[in-house]
Amino acid sequence: MSRKNVLWVDEATLAKDLRSRVYIVTGANSGVGLETTRQLVKQGGHVVMACRRPDAGEEAAKSFAGLDGSYEVMRLDLADLQSVRDFAAEFLRNYDRLDGLVCNAGLANLTNELERTKDGFELTFGVSYFGHFLLTELLLDLLKASAPSRIVLLSSVAHAGSPRNRPRVHLDDLKYETREVKNLAIYNEAKVANILYAMELADRLEGTGVTAYSVHPGWARSNFDKGGSLGVRVMLTLMKLTVYPFVTDSNEESAQTTLHCLLSDDAPSHSGEYFSQHSVLYRDKECRRGGWPMESPNPNARDMETARKLVEASYGLVGLERE
Ligand SMILES: NC(=O)c1ccc[n+]([C@@H]2O[C@H](COP(=O)([O-])OP(=O)(O)OC[C@H]3O[C@@H](n4cnc5c(N)ncnc54)[C@H](OP(=O)(O)O)[C@@H]3O)[C@@H](O)[C@H]2O)c1
Repeated sequence: MSRKNVLWVDEATLAKDLRSRVYIVTGANSGVGLETTRQLVKQGGHVVMACRRPDAGEEAAKSFAGLDGSYEVMRLDLADLQSVRDFAAEFLRNYDRLDGLVCNAGLANLTNELERTKDGFELTFGVSYFGHFLLTELLLDLLKASAPSRIVLLSSVAHAGSPRNRPRVHLDDLKYETREVKNLAIYNEAKVANILYAMELADRLEGTGVTAYSVHPGWARSNFDKGGSLGVRVMLTLMKLTVYPFVTDSNEESAQTTLHCLLSDDAPSHSGEYFSQHSVLYRDKECRRGGWPMESPNPNARDMETARKLVEASYGLVGLERE
């Protein structure tokens, strides 16, 4: 898909003065997170780049030289809940406001081998959902105190599956203890969880001035497809040589939907909704005009009852007491 099909954030939004605003972007050293960060810094904002590998964050941030805003790289390993707690504690010690939290980091385990986080969650689900869940909950009071503020959770079109196979969160086995591991299924399930969490947050936070969104960024030419088995790598190389130029987007293009949710005047009237950049799977482009919120084609990603149960269970699983 060429550049003309990308839905860009309007110019006024990308010209807003963000001086004195503070943002956190997870996975800010690479891909969509790096370009989201660059735009916020360009507009004068201060971004805490929450990176698993701080040296990679520092290296990536060298490219911000000359931009108006500022940044700090802080270590955050979403596969380790103690690291999440340490990050949140340090952030709360050093900052007294938070205008936007972008839960962007993620991975898709392409090996079909079960990997676990330090706390025993399946790795893809643990990083994409549980790590971000704990991070968000620990920062909620500051987000409320900084309102109006926003939370953006990166999901994916992959959450939709197909009409015959709609991914869903398995509330009876959130730690993947009884199920066979089929890795992309885990990725899809994690992305359903991100959408449900954004819905639940929006509902819980109504009236506080804190709004929440889930996002599909398009198909980004990021570092996302690294690794995998030999077969997967051969397939990806072939795709890069053939269809990639027609169906993928630059990381700058893929940051547009996150930026729209984080900065536009329109987004707060759609708190809790799923925003999609274009996708080859979504043929009806009209449903994304004017801010691009759309109804997920997956009914399992629209069920508030499941969202509430997921959040309830998550509190226990990450060791948080509910107020
Ligand atoms: N690329 C796409 O086409 C696409 C499509 C739909 C949705 N998305 C979503 O978009 C988001 C951004 O992905 P991307 O395409 O920009 O991929 P990317 O270039 O691979 O960036 C992923 C980021 O997540 C970080 N990360 C991975 N594991 C982590 C952990 N344990 N703790 C903290 N950070 C961790 C990575 O850090 P390291 O560099 O240290 O590994 C990296 O900074 C993801 O949530 C992804 O699911 C992407």
